[in-house]
Amino acid sequence: MKKIRAKISGVSGYVPDYVLTNAELETMVDTSDEWITTRTGIKERRLLKGEGKGTSVIGIEASKRLLEKTNTDASEIDLIICATVTPDMLFPSTSNIIADGIGAINSFSYDIQAACSGFLYALATGSKFIESGTHHKVLVIGADKMSSIIDYQDRQTCIIFGDGGGAVLLEPTEEEEGVMDSILRADGSGVKYLHMKAGGSNYPPSHETVSAREHYVKQEGATVFKFAVKNMADVSAEIMEKNNLKADDIAWLVPHQANLRIIDATANRMGIGSEKVMNNISKYGNTTAGTIPLCLWDYESKLKKGDNLILAAFGGGFTWGSMYLRWAY
Ligand code: UT7
Repeated sequence: MKKIRAKISGVSGYVPDYVLTNAELETMVDTSDEWITTRTGIKERRLLKGEGKGTSVIGIEASKRLLEKTNTDASEIDLIICATVTPDMLFPSTSNIIADGIGAINSFSYDIQAACSGFLYALATGSKFIESGTHHKVLVIGADKMSSIIDYQDRQTCIIFGDGGGAVLLEPTEEEEGVMDSILRADGSGVKYLHMKAGGSNYPPSHETVSAREHYVKQEGATVFKFAVKNMADVSAEIMEKNNLKADDIAWLVPHQANLRIIDATANRMGIGSEKVMNNISKYGNTTAGTIPLCLWDYESKLKKGDNLILAAFGGGFTWGSMYLRWAY
């Protein structure tokens, strides 16, 4: 019997309309367009405005667009996995809310939280349900409303993050395509360098936690940068070696969009030229779990059946990983 693999049969995305430019950030904190551009590559990011609008708004819109373009009825979906660090509520899961929003009445659903590596973790997990033969149409979503946990008085973080996300449909294939391999890693000792301290069971919300601005992302940027450069580059080189892939065999690197300098370092280590690197950081910034599906969505028209893609991410936790994916359409 032939091995069943999980192929991506469609991708879609959603970014909110509001554009937060570097020029507007200059009016909010002590920064400059020149500093942000040279240190990160970011020019603007999107924000989801409006009361009562959570990450599910992004996930529902991306999923509806995906169902429409793949001619899929929501009732055919049998599993929804949403990667996010900004769930609508601590519970129920945002994927449950998305399932209801799109009418996926025959699906079970759950969230995965692995910060900026969340989409990779979710894609690897979702593909296992397909490979096992138990599930046939799996929706994998990566979405974040980072503006809900960003301190717009903290110039070290507010210039980086934005809101947005995307979704892919996974289906079975017996061809040599789809998810070929993945390497996923985690190191919990990294918690002190990138986290949101309060709001969980450790430090439940209180007047004190709010006054101390502990419901926002705190990042030791330079330390995270060093870990990100090393681990994202290492794990990308490792998956190439493991699968006997040379730079010429790779059509596209799809890196998490945290910082253009981290993306360049990863591509250099793999020996891949910038023309093969997906990059939309200048217009969306870092949307955490949203970056990789947003890249696939932006570059979809350039992808060809049989293209070898390497997906790579690094994020809070620390979490990191890479995936070897062969494009199926
Ligand atoms: O996606 C999840 C994982 N996260 C990442 O991968 C992010 C990794 N880190 C980074 O991307 C970078 O560390 C940052 C973009 C966050 C910061 O860039 P950096 O080159 O590492 O800057 P730095 O933190 O070392 O700061 C350099 C200087 C400091 O001033 P002094 O001490 O040299 O006088 C900062 O105070 O830049 C200053 N600075 C700023 N200046 C203008 C920090 N933020 C800003 C700012 N505007 N927004």
